[in-house]
Amino acid sequence: MIRAIKAAQRLDSRGNPTVQVDLTTDNRPSGTFRALVPSGASTGQHEAVELRDGNASVFGGKGVERAVRNVEEVIAPALIKKGFNLETDLKKIDAFMKELDGTKNKGNLGANAMLGVSMACARAGASLAGIPLYEFLRRESGAKKPYVMPVPFFNVLNGGVHSGNTMAFQEIMLAPVGAQSVAEAVRMGSEVYQQLKKVITRKFGSSATGIGDEGGFAPPISQPHEAFDLLVTAVEECGYTNKIKYAMDPASSEFFKNGNYDIGFKGKTPDVQSPKQLQNLYNHLIDKYPIILLEDPFAEDDWETWTEFNKNCKIELVGDDLLVTNTERVQEASEKKACNSMLLKVNQIGTVTEAIAAANMAFGLGWGVFVSHRSGETTDDFIADITVGLRTGHLKSGSPCRGERVVKYNRLMDIEAELIAAGEPCIYAGHQFRTAHVI
Ligand code: PGA
Ligand code: ZN
Repeated sequence: MIRAIKAAQRLDSRGNPTVQVDLTTDNRPSGTFRALVPSGASTGQHEAVELRDGNASVFGGKGVERAVRNVEEVIAPALIKKGFNLETDLKKIDAFMKELDGTKNKGNLGANAMLGVSMACARAGASLAGIPLYEFLRRESGAKKPYVMPVPFFNVLNGGVHSGNTMAFQEIMLAPVGAQSVAEAVRMGSEVYQQLKKVITRKFGSSATGIGDEGGFAPPISQPHEAFDLLVTAVEECGYTNKIKYAMDPASSEFFKNGNYDIGFKGKTPDVQSPKQLQNLYNHLIDKYPIILLEDPFAEDDWETWTEFNKNCKIELVGDDLLVTNTERVQEASEKKACNSMLLKVNQIGTVTEAIAAANMAFGLGWGVFVSHRSGETTDDFIADITVGLRTGHLKSGSPCRGERVVKYNRLMDIEAELIAAGEPCIYAGHQFRTAHVI
């Protein structure tokens, strides 16, 4: 049972306020369980509401004192009164908070308030059950064993609204599918990252090695092929050409204007592409480089272009802003045959069990599920456990650099080491990252 829930305003990795929740259990011995809530920059319009105070003279309007108060004054007393069993009642707790909020988009209490509580409840539940968080989430989701360790997708070149260069596409990622374990995949990612720094220094000088919001480099480039050329060189120089594949997230809702896409939106001159031209650009890149995953190539409500592209798409086509981890959007995308995979971001929907429901719906459709951090992160490593517990086979948490990014990769390595030490079978997803759920 819950004894107390405290919340506080703390900073995220961009230096903006976010919600921290500390939940204390009533059991003996009692414990306190902390959760910190992440926050996006290229946020989808259909995401659950992140409550911000809007007082321009404090944190530029980004304060979360209202969300903090909602946790302490509304959610905490109501939840404590209900006397939920933390070991078994996470779904009921989330449903109860949803009812308490009373809106469709969590605009009343705030998804940031509710998610902090939901995550802290899951941590407390796992501890009371005497099991690791990933095992608690596995049971909650109904995923089968053996455990599948995910392929980490490292976002090593940052553009879009995450960096100051003029590249419209937000994320260029590398995926060590040819590794044998998470530990090896992280080593490969780190080695390529360090080599990429050298490649960038050679070409642009050392002042070009500054990094973006997700820890990837942000050299003065504007075109995606320039990014891939830098990355391919670094991978080659490390000797990993056949073991590493690529992915990209253009986060195209950010540059969708009046039915077209302006991939010059960060520079001085517009570079407007029709949906057809943009499709051709993606196909050209997919032909030229070993790209295995494409996320949000089209805007969140440009259904027509998604459906057209998906008809002949051979790679994983992931909906982020398109689906916002929401079962209603997943259902719509399935009817429209718009994509073949769902990005899972817990704060897009606002509770842990609703995110699990969206993942299970996606699995039921035979889709992939790709777990994701946000560009504004914290040192909370919850998503590593979600990835293993739900057997999603892949996750992205930025580059192998910056504490709030590496804490997730480090947690994955801890889980892998723990499972091996316990003699518990665990498989590295590798090339099967899309179908890890049914390995
Ligand atoms: P965001 O970026 O957290 O700024 O939304 C991540 C993404 O688009 O996948
Ligand atoms: Zn995205």
